Amino acid sequence: RKTLNIGLFGFGCVGFGLYEVLQKTPGLKANIKNICVKNPDKKREIGSENFTFNADDLLNNPEINVIVELIDDADAAFEITKRALKSGKAVVSANKKMVAEHFGELLQLQRENNVPLLYEAACCASMPIIRNLEEYYDNDLLDSIQGIVNGSTNYILTKTSRDNISYDEALKQAQDAGYAESNPILDTGGFDAKYKLLILLAHSFGYIAKPDDLLNIGINNLGGVELKYAREKGLKIKLVAQAFKQNDGTVGAFVLPKFVSPEDRLYNVDDVFNGVVTKTSFADEQFFVGRGAGAHPTASAVLSDISALTYDYRYEYKKISRGESVSLSDNLDLTI
Ligand code: HSE
Repeated sequence: RKTLNIGLFGFGCVGFGLYEVLQKTPGLKANIKNICVKNPDKKREIGSENFTFNADDLLNNPEINVIVELIDDADAAFEITKRALKSGKAVVSANKKMVAEHFGELLQLQRENNVPLLYEAACCASMPIIRNLEEYYDNDLLDSIQGIVNGSTNYILTKTSRDNISYDEALKQAQDAGYAESNPILDTGGFDAKYKLLILLAHSFGYIAKPDDLLNIGINNLGGVELKYAREKGLKIKLVAQAFKQNDGTVGAFVLPKFVSPEDRLYNVDDVFNGVVTKTSFADEQFFVGRGAGAHPTASAVLSDISALTYDYRYEYKKISRGESVSLSDNLDLTI
């Protein structure tokens, strides 16, 4: 296995989480060489000798062979990722917005430079869904995939319905716990879930779409009427991302709040957990569940990608490579 010298961008919730989980994983041959941060005035948990404010110190350092990008700004993350891949450094990212907005270009950059980009942490944090889709569901096994893929909104929905906490208070708790995006409308408006759905779509059905191609409705416009209806009928409201094959061979995909009954596997996926149900032709359903946000769960997926790089793992985007990708349906029946 390779030894990895990491250049880390960002030392926020997940960046520091990664630092901590790496300390507790001595068997992994990976060490952080240098950390690039934006704000020189911020007080940090470890000594200033670990940090730089100049991206070039990481990107031009020949000793660094992996860039781990854990910053909030998707545009800056894309610039860093582009430069890293072009200089032959592997990249691990947790930035779903960046991946979802630039899929085509990121794919091309990986091919042209023959260097991998991994982003398991960008989709459902600790739940290992991307590699499962890549490896296990190759061939035409998959009929549909649906899931709760945003931890913050699931936390808010759980707290408001089960614990009678107000929407604003539940959102504040999600922010304080480090679950929410810095702009929480990305969570509550269903945008974060849509970015993750785009990642799922690429690795399941081989479809590369743009965020504007898919409909997303969040939980920010749900009212007392819906909550009351759910309570009276013994249902829960969940924000569900779905992608499914249509009869004509196209794939439909969208993010919508949905009434979920106790028979549905997603019914018991509460708090910050994410859950994904895959339906297949020969094996009925599989159900994945795991913590969908938070410092250590997200860092744990980043760690898993770093570990995968020590044995040269890369996504193959098999369906796309084989030219088997499907197209997106423009004729969706939104009846649920
Ligand atoms: N804001 C995201 C969520 C973080 O709540 O799911 C994890 O991707």
